[in-house]
Amino acid sequence: MRHFTASSRETRTAIVQPHETRSPTYDRGVAEDDRRKQAEIDYPGAVGKAGREWIRIKPFRADPRTTGRLLIDFGYVLKLLDLHAASSLVELGCGSGWMSRLAARHGVHAEGYDIAPLMVEIAHTAAVLEGVDARFEVGDYEQLDLGRRFDACLLYDTLHHSERPELVLATARRALKLGGRLLLVEPNWTHRFRGREASEAYGTTELGYSSRRLKHLLREAGFTDVRRFHANRKRLYSNSVADTAAHLTEPLVFRLFAPFWTQIWLRARST
Ligand SMILES: C[S@@+](CC[C@H](N)C(=O)[O-])C[C@H]1O[C@@H](n2cnc3c(N)ncnc32)[C@H](O)[C@@H]1O
Repeated sequence: MRHFTASSRETRTAIVQPHETRSPTYDRGVAEDDRRKQAEIDYPGAVGKAGREWIRIKPFRADPRTTGRLLIDFGYVLKLLDLHAASSLVELGCGSGWMSRLAARHGVHAEGYDIAPLMVEIAHTAAVLEGVDARFEVGDYEQLDLGRRFDACLLYDTLHHSERPELVLATARRALKLGGRLLLVEPNWTHRFRGREASEAYGTTELGYSSRRLKHLLREAGFTDVRRFHANRKRLYSNSVADTAAHLTEPLVFRLFAPFWTQIWLRARST
């Protein structure tokens, strides 16, 4: 088994190292795995100055709608994971760690792991600048064994970057206390088409899961009490006739179109 450690140099080495004494089939699998993981590692360096700047400042200073949506998502994370001051949270595939850093401001003991050393560097630097006590390390969520257990685990917009979701969910389960909560937030299955552009440009893995498939994966991984949440109330409604009509009908419309349209929010309990 390959291990990725907290040092960026070691991580790169681990990924590009040749594997000498294995069967050709295994080698092809490993080489393909290495290629796709290397693309994830390289992404923040390849995305250009503007892209990197967005990674740094996310969720702020975007257009108000985007920033508002992301902050509302953070509110949902707090609620669904029942995060209080002194709760412990591990975020896998944390990117710049913006969610973990906001959680730390709320008093949560937050740790984030990401395969891309540059993402972790951005997360760490931002935490220091903000005076926030959140910890970030490089780690491959398909292989991590943290050796300790948390109250809650967050996988926000990241599982679709893995072709081995069962390994990621096994990591999440290992990281949770008995009865601990996992929150999985994913684009829907249409992301396998919408993500093509990024995949072609950067070689990143961009899969798309249905809610049904994700629920199945969670149960297979040993999670129980799997519940889906529809996140549709992402705007305020005035008292105008049009807004009142939208207010009354939108939940229905969202549910109807949920399979093609909305993010999938699933919460589960570790057993
Ligand atoms: C779309 S970004 C989302 C990042 C963050 N959750 C956010 O909302 O900004 C997906 C993240 O998953 C990370 N990732 C991809 N493969 C990974 C792996 N095998 N282990 C850990 N992180 C991984 C990427 O480096 C990237 O930061």
